[in-house]
Amino acid sequence: MAERSGQSPRTDPTVLVRGGTVIDQGGERRADVLIAEGRIASVEDGIEPPRGAVVLDAEGCVVAPGLVDLHTHLREPGREESETIATGTRAASAGGFTAVVAMPNTDPALDSAEAVRNVFDLARTATAEVAVAGAITVGREGERLAPMAELTALGVRIFTDDGSGVQSAGLMRRAFEYARGLGVTLAQHCEDGTLAAGGAMHEGAWSSRLGLPGMPAAAEEVMVARDIALARTTGGRIHFLHLSTGASIQLVRQAKAEGLWVTAEAAPHHFSLTDACTAGYDPVFRVNPPLRPSADVEAVKVGLADGTIDAIATDHAPHAPELKDLPFDQAPPGMLGLETALALAISELGLPLARVLALLCWQPAVIAGLDPAHGGDQGGPVVPGAAANLCVIDPAATWTVDPTALASRSRNTPYAGRTLTGRVRHTVFRGEPVVVDTEAQR
Ligand code: DOR
Repeated sequence: MAERSGQSPRTDPTVLVRGGTVIDQGGERRADVLIAEGRIASVEDGIEPPRGAVVLDAEGCVVAPGLVDLHTHLREPGREESETIATGTRAASAGGFTAVVAMPNTDPALDSAEAVRNVFDLARTATAEVAVAGAITVGREGERLAPMAELTALGVRIFTDDGSGVQSAGLMRRAFEYARGLGVTLAQHCEDGTLAAGGAMHEGAWSSRLGLPGMPAAAEEVMVARDIALARTTGGRIHFLHLSTGASIQLVRQAKAEGLWVTAEAAPHHFSLTDACTAGYDPVFRVNPPLRPSADVEAVKVGLADGTIDAIATDHAPHAPELKDLPFDQAPPGMLGLETALALAISELGLPLARVLALLCWQPAVIAGLDPAHGGDQGGPVVPGAAANLCVIDPAATWTVDPTALASRSRNTPYAGRTLTGRVRHTVFRGEPVVVDTEAQR
């Protein structure tokens, strides 16, 4: 049995989510949702609140399975000044997420059973489920494979060296072969080090104008192409992290048409910001892969709309002010994402809310192996008997991003002052209301 986070015993309140419209994979219907002992007890119109029940008002709101983030940097252990598992999962709850996949570029890296167990232990009292992405290579150094079988036995379902890509094609082929045997997914941060070396932003007109060293789109695209070839050779499964260029997305489109076992995600900043944002040299806009020109931003939107890209993943990358507030080319790459992802998707994509939820909820749950079909509790239909992991969204509410009001320990959001549409009103994790009327409950 896989170990999972947050299994401390608790007395769960009875909760009634009243007056909303439920949207899940099965469609849309007006219904109240009654929750008891951490599970959904009934889903129907006009449920009377049992005596003593906590009532969450959902008038005018959508009630959906909790969102699932495939790409969260929680920074613990090693970088607790930027984020901890407690603060990062609080940010997740504020953003409507009931599960996050923790990236392994911590210090030490999540490349051993001991390191993974430690994260699960630290996550026991977290306000969202913490799944772990194990490192593909020891120390994420790209030299030797990590003990993937041992990590799989602990419940790890996805492996990546995120923060960097596995540079050696030969080692990546071996990783594919192991992963295939173990039934787990490899996830790649596509960045060829020889092409990207020294780059601080996208290589193009803006990097020339600003005099900043660039990294070409090809640094991403050659690794996407290589890993598609390796997926074909090995029959393995690959998930592409944070795709950002039109040509990368076209490669994935072709690979899927060929029937290869390929999935992909895009981050909100790659469909809502361009490399022109870098014009003021503000390090908050430095991120890897870098912000791209508007043609690429459009290609990401098309990929999300036509199903080439399976998931929106935040790449939530907190950096404490003293680490991030440096000249642009010296600042670490990364920006916050958990608390703005849903609103950016609603505001920017022009997709029906059910499609946005597919991209933020049930499709990533399947990729992470956290859905009911894989024995998990995330992203499944809102039906009696299911685990009560829910978010309640007011799709019409507008709000202005205030960095000082974020739950994250860091402040590096590029959306400060931006007014967005769509707000998470309540979040319920394993039957416990962890966010009520946008306020954290613990
Ligand atoms: O911008 C980024 N920041 N991209 C990554 O791949 C890693 C991340 C981080 O860990 O800060």
